[in-house]
This record gives sequence, structure tokens and C-alpha cells, in this order.
Amino acid sequence: MIEAITGSDRNTALIKWYGNEARNLPWRVFGDPYLTLVSEAMLQQTQVDRVIPKFEAFIDTWPTVEGLARASTNQLLAIWSGLGYNSRALRLRESARIIADGGWPTSVSGLQELPGVGPYTAAAIASIAFGVDVPAIDTNLKRVLSRWHGEPLSGKLLEEFAVGSIASPAGLWNQAVMDLGATICRPTNPACGDCPISRWCADPTVYEPPVKQSRFKGSRRELRGALVRASVSNGDLYAAGEALGRSDTEISETITALRTEGLVD
Ligand code: ADE
Repeated sequence: MIEAITGSDRNTALIKWYGNEARNLPWRVFGDPYLTLVSEAMLQQTQVDRVIPKFEAFIDTWPTVEGLARASTNQLLAIWSGLGYNSRALRLRESARIIADGGWPTSVSGLQELPGVGPYTAAAIASIAFGVDVPAIDTNLKRVLSRWHGEPLSGKLLEEFAVGSIASPAGLWNQAVMDLGATICRPTNPACGDCPISRWCADPTVYEPPVKQSRFKGSRRELRGALVRASVSNGDLYAAGEALGRSDTEISETITALRTEGLVD
């Protein structure tokens, strides 16, 4: 695999490191678009450790995209429970239906037409599953590349730098950068002493903290999650809302919204 890599010395060192240190993650089956789609949908807002058991249960239940296309809403949300953002699960099933009917899009632009698939996810699937040489730009890649460059990168500049930095096959390179960002080039306290490419890094202190999410406790999102869990387990939705100290008005408004979105019956 190392022989297949082209590009700079930094990339050679990065890929060699990845060959030895890659995290053993259950979705890392190169060329499998379904495993990549499901894992990327789960990883959008949830950390790797919490995704692993959910991913395994999900794939055991629906080993193929055709199976997922036929999943019931209740079973889907029950298995998704704990990952948050239930609408993501519905969009994932919607994507599965489109793919089961019409086959897989294999380009970044084609993938981006699937519900819930944005530029990052499309690039991740295209590179990992279809061998397209594109960088998958998320906050981790942005941080790592900003440090290589020596100042915070964003927008067009980030994209240009990323395109100029990748090695082929980019699916491998993207995942190498993901692992470097998760284990060594961490947001704070990067382990530069263990970094295989520190000599090509301009400034490891570059870091822009992400914009803080609003507080979960007391939020509409907290209530929505509780109501969906109650619905999936055939429980009392009002009791679930009241347990969080919410008013009847807020509970009924939220149930109406969830019904419209197809998240509760
Ligand atoms: N985060 C998002 N996609 C990932 C992947 N394929 N491997 C590890 N972490 C990820």
C-alpha cells in the first residue's frame, strides 16, 4: 500500500505511520460505500467510541442498503437511540431508498444529492469507497492542515491547501489524517513528540476552538430526544416531557413538530 502513495515526504511518513498505527475501526473496509455511508452519518456529531457499538448493531440489523431502505421507523430510531439527531437516521434511510432504487452515485457531486450528505461526507465516501482523490475536509483536517501551514486556514484557502496536500489514494490519506488528528494532533496538548511528521509542521499551537453548542439541558433538543425515546418504547410522551419539567404547551408543540417530521407516530 505504501508503494501506491505519491506525494511529498510528509505524506510518505504519514502513510507509513498509519500503516502501523491505524485505529482498528469496524467500518474500515475499503471500497464498501454502505459501511462508509452509515459510519459517516453516525460520526457527524458523535465520537468514535460511542459510534462503534451502535454501528455494529446497525450493520447486524441491516447488512445491506436494500435492508435499510425497508427499515421501520420505530426499529430505526430504537437502534439510533443514543446517537442524537434522529432526523439524521431518517435521512440515512431516505438515502438508502434512493440508492436501492437507482444505484450508488460515485462522484462527489452525485453523492451530495443524497439527503443528509454534505460536502464533507460526500468527499469521505467518494475517496474511501470509490477511489476519488479528494480531501474530506472536516474540523479535524482543518486543524491539522492549519498547523502544517502555520496559521488558521478556512474557506477557499483551506480547500486549495487541502487539495495540494493529499496523497493518492486519498481515502487512505484522509483516514490517516483523521487518526493523526484524533490521537496525536489533538485540539489541545498535541503529542508532538510522537508525531511522525512534526518536522514538516509549521506551528502545532494553531487552534481555533469550535463555536460552542448551546446548552443541552433545558433545550428543545433534549425534549425532542426524550419524546422520540418514549415513542419508540411505546411509552407516555407527556410523562416523558413532564419528567423534564416542561409545560404541556411545549410538549404538545414538540410532538406536533416531530409528527410532521415523521419521527413519532
Ligand atoms: N470520523 C469521521 N469519519 C471517520 C473515519 N472514517 N474514521 C475515523 N474517524 C472518523
